[in-house]
Amino acid sequence: MNNRAAVMHGVHDVRMEERPVPEPGPKEVLVEIKAVGVCGSDVHYYEEGRIGTFVVREPLILGHESMGTVAGLGPESTKHEIGDRVTLEPGIPDGTCRECRAGRYNLCPNVRFFATPPIDGAFANYVTIHEDFAFTLPDELSDNAGALMEPLSVGIWSCRKAGVRAGDRVLVTGAGPIGLLAMQVALASGATEVTVTDVARERLDLARKTGATRVVNVAEEPLAEAGIEADALIECSGNERALDDGIHCLRPAGTAVVVGMGPGETANVPLAYVQTQEIWLTGTFRYANTYPTAISLAATGRVNLDAIVTGHFGLEETDSALQASKNDPANVKPMVLPNGGS
Ligand SMILES: NC(=O)c1ccc[n+]([C@@H]2O[C@H](COP(=O)([O-])OP(=O)(O)OC[C@H]3O[C@@H](n4cnc5c(N)ncnc54)[C@H](O)[C@@H]3O)[C@@H](O)[C@H]2O)c1
Ligand SMILES: [Zn+2]
Repeated sequence: MNNRAAVMHGVHDVRMEERPVPEPGPKEVLVEIKAVGVCGSDVHYYEEGRIGTFVVREPLILGHESMGTVAGLGPESTKHEIGDRVTLEPGIPDGTCRECRAGRYNLCPNVRFFATPPIDGAFANYVTIHEDFAFTLPDELSDNAGALMEPLSVGIWSCRKAGVRAGDRVLVTGAGPIGLLAMQVALASGATEVTVTDVARERLDLARKTGATRVVNVAEEPLAEAGIEADALIECSGNERALDDGIHCLRPAGTAVVVGMGPGETANVPLAYVQTQEIWLTGTFRYANTYPTAISLAATGRVNLDAIVTGHFGLEETDSALQASKNDPANVKPMVLPNGGS
């Protein structure tokens, strides 16, 4: 068995290397990776070598939206059999700290998350993972769909935080993969109006194709003039103006969920509006306990993950995959297929 890996050595410097096939430890499984989605965070590391306080100091394998087949079992591993198709939840919390014990394991200070320095990710032939974080995929889901349970989880978590209910009107700002999937989950949760905004026409076209009831190109029509009233805002652009204008679209006592990460540590929020209208404002960080929901939403056709896939690259082309969305906004979700794939 060979374990080829696309290893980032620095900004714009990804090299193909041969790594030892990792040994699964106790309760771990070895997974032969079939499909990995390229996430905006991978692109950030590739372009800037850091995200906030996370800095790539040692060679790092990127990629954290992944699926594959079980190829080996560590000692005491009982949950899977060789050959199982599994999707990987990429953050392994310690399981014992206060946040973990409260069920908020996404906030575990000791989490080891794929492709976040110094933890390697999945742009490789093989990875190992704790068996509890490998979830069996139904046959009807494609390899691509299996890999995209990760961004779908971000969408599910944002809708849970927004408390989206049947009949709700939801505003999603930003039609990247995260906004597009948050939109689909809002619809699956019973929202009857879901407006999606962006500045890129191609992305709004995809939003409409995948179910948005209205799209607004804020480069042409400012959100403030679009006449929107929403029960919930799910901000998925990281743009300060989108957050400000989006909050102003909320009905009294509406909920604003900040998913998008802006470039800075701080951003302006319309505090007087939040205060006088009793707006609920919350952030989100990744997700917790979403994978079973993600798999069943996709397997029952409530959410279409294949619809956002816009390109395929071999492992040797990881470099090009990391540049694809920067070069063309129509490239919403490039996929790397390290061992072939469907
Ligand atoms: N909170 C979390 O746990 C979490 C997890 C994953 C991603 N994120 C963040 O969510 C955001 C979205 O992720 P993505 O992968 O979809 O990124 P993306 O960059 O592909 O999408 C952002 C979209 O926002 C659009 N945009 C820019 N300015 C806008 C404006 N003024 N109004 C509306 N749209 C505008 C862009 O054209 C782009 O299509 C990013 O900031 C990312 O860092 C957060
Ligand atoms: Zn913990």
